[in-house]
Amino acid sequence: MKVCVIGTGYVGLVTGVCLSEIGNRVLCVDNDDRKVSQLRGGKVHIYEEGLEELLAKNLESGNLSFTDDISAAIRESEIIFICVGTPPLPSGKPDLSAIDEVAREIGKSLNGYKIILNKSTVPIGTAKRIKKIINENTNPENEGFDFDIVSNPEFLKEGEAVKDAFFPERIVIGSGSQKAIDIMKKLYRPIIEQDFEYAKNNSHRKEKVPVVITDSVSSEFIKYASNAFLATKISFINEIANVCERLGANILDVTYGMGLDARIGPRFMQAGIGWGGSCFPKDVRALSYTAEEYGSPAGILNAVIQVNNQQRFKVIQKAMDFLGIIDDKIIGVLGLSFKPNTNDTREAPSITIINKFLELGAEVRVYDPVIKDYPEGLDPGAIMAVDPYGALERADLMVLVTEWDEFISLDFERLKNIMSGPNIIDGRNVLDREKLQEIGFNYSGIGTGTGTGTGS
Ligand SMILES: NC(=O)c1ccc[n+]([C@@H]2O[C@H](COP(=O)([O-])OP(=O)(O)OC[C@H]3O[C@@H](n4cnc5c(N)ncnc54)[C@H](O)[C@@H]3O)[C@@H](O)[C@H]2O)c1
Repeated sequence: MKVCVIGTGYVGLVTGVCLSEIGNRVLCVDNDDRKVSQLRGGKVHIYEEGLEELLAKNLESGNLSFTDDISAAIRESEIIFICVGTPPLPSGKPDLSAIDEVAREIGKSLNGYKIILNKSTVPIGTAKRIKKIINENTNPENEGFDFDIVSNPEFLKEGEAVKDAFFPERIVIGSGSQKAIDIMKKLYRPIIEQDFEYAKNNSHRKEKVPVVITDSVSSEFIKYASNAFLATKISFINEIANVCERLGANILDVTYGMGLDARIGPRFMQAGIGWGGSCFPKDVRALSYTAEEYGSPAGILNAVIQVNNQQRFKVIQKAMDFLGIIDDKIIGVLGLSFKPNTNDTREAPSITIINKFLELGAEVRVYDPVIKDYPEGLDPGAIMAVDPYGALERADLMVLVTEWDEFISLDFERLKNIMSGPNIIDGRNVLDREKLQEIGFNYSGIGTGTGTGTGS
């Protein structure tokens, strides 16, 4: 099929590349012409395992191309994916200006029946809004050309985006048009049936991918409610971890014991310094805003946000417990991205933590395996180190913020010799406390109290 994908960020680029890999002709559009020319040259601006290779392959085969001419891309395509950003406004309400702009362009460029498919995470009711804007902007000579709107929320996880796009846990299609639903099922058929070339012999291949067919409002709701639930799970376990810490219990043992109950399960139960990224913070706030707007205030969601906002400051408190006064101390921070295997730093706890240490007068050295430039919001007083050992040389304290694999296998004997103070705050509970204590480090995790932490 001829598909155009508008927006080449984490969602759009992965969607475009994966749709081309399963045999469609995909035209990816972005209004950032620097991004477009980089992508045309095969260079990927986001860090996602396997993406650059797939992009190169499909550029070469001619299944995939890039343009900044949105109008031409719409005219040439049967299915138009909207994958632009919907960042939060200060009120918590999502900023839909990019969606509106795309809808106006679609209205102006309609030249036949099209499916307009929205993958961006949007407030409930946005499908209707897009339809209205398209209708208002249709050129008189284009009138009569038909279109259907489909809500098709995206559930990919940054760091595992290619895997999630090819082997999703479900595909949600929300539309009032049976014709559009049938075309979408045809487009996704190889993924639903898991019979495309890339899936063969792949360990992530599924028997079949479930498809949820519903109306657009319910579809938009599925996305928000899923993210809000996951964020709730993390804030819940972080709150429990904080109480464990007071009582001397070990959250690792507690979550292991809880997770064996099939009704609870072990996933999304890792206590730490809280969630960040471009999705959870904005989606939980947006759902809370919508709930309030429609007269059904979301007490739980507001508490989930509040617990998360406080959680990252646990690190500052722990640093004070170790060092007393922070002023003039050297602190090595490991990890900038909001989670491992991505270069996304939007709403990352690292930025709040580093800026606070700098405000308190510390010298802060930072190392991240993939982020080498200063992310937006990071105080330029932070020093970027080229490797973890550089970040920790003469440091009084190590703070692990992001659980990259590289940090788990550091040479801690060497670190003990080069650091000035043998202090470690493990913000993700991933380091081997017993081993570190044997080496001579003072270790503090999040809620790890005194239990074995092994679950046995
Ligand atoms: N990142 C994730 O993990 C994730 C997962 C699921 C859903 N989502 C949702 O998907 C949407 C996109 O997220 P993202 O992380 O890919 O955002 P992003 O900011 O990485 O990418 C958005 C892209 O859209 C482009 N763009 C903006 N306005 C445009 C316009 N008028 N015409 C053409 N291009 C335009 C930008 O230049 C940018 O490249 C958001 O609503 C987000 O909530 C994101």
